[in-house]
Amino acid sequence: MKNTLIALAAAGLVSFGAAAQAGDATAGQSAYATCVGCHGAAAEGGVGPKLAGQAAADIVAKLHKYKAGEQMGPMTSMMAPMAAGLSDADMENIAAYVSSL
Ligand code: HEC
Repeated sequence: MKNTLIALAAAGLVSFGAAAQAGDATAGQSAYATCVGCHGAAAEGGVGPKLAGQAAADIVAKLHKYKAGEQMGPMTSMMAPMAAGLSDADMENIAAYVSSL
């Protein structure tokens, strides 16, 4: 009985861990297609800043701020409409893809 409880607890932790990594990098890759023109195919930067190498959580946080209409950098007006069309899942997926580059 005790072992069963431990096994259940461990299984619960494992599934919690999987849920915490919400982003799907494969879905993110196709969603990122609209970003390539400004951020580069390898997210190396261009018109917009380099995104490669940034933590997924940071990218998601910034996208939320753009979507919320916060003034970020000097070119916020260029980026804000891009974020406005993204769902939370889109942001997680794109961040998972970009941070894997
Ligand atoms: C029309 C060009 C353009 C497109 C398309 C575009 N961006 Fe941007 N992006 C920018 C610019 C310019 C900035 C910097 C804006 C500022 O000064 O605040 C930026 C900033 C960002 C930042 C913050 C980077 C940092 O380090 O501060 C993220 C994250 C980002 N973009 C993600 C995306 C994603 C994801 C997409 C596709 C859905 C996308 N962008 C599409 C131009 C673009």
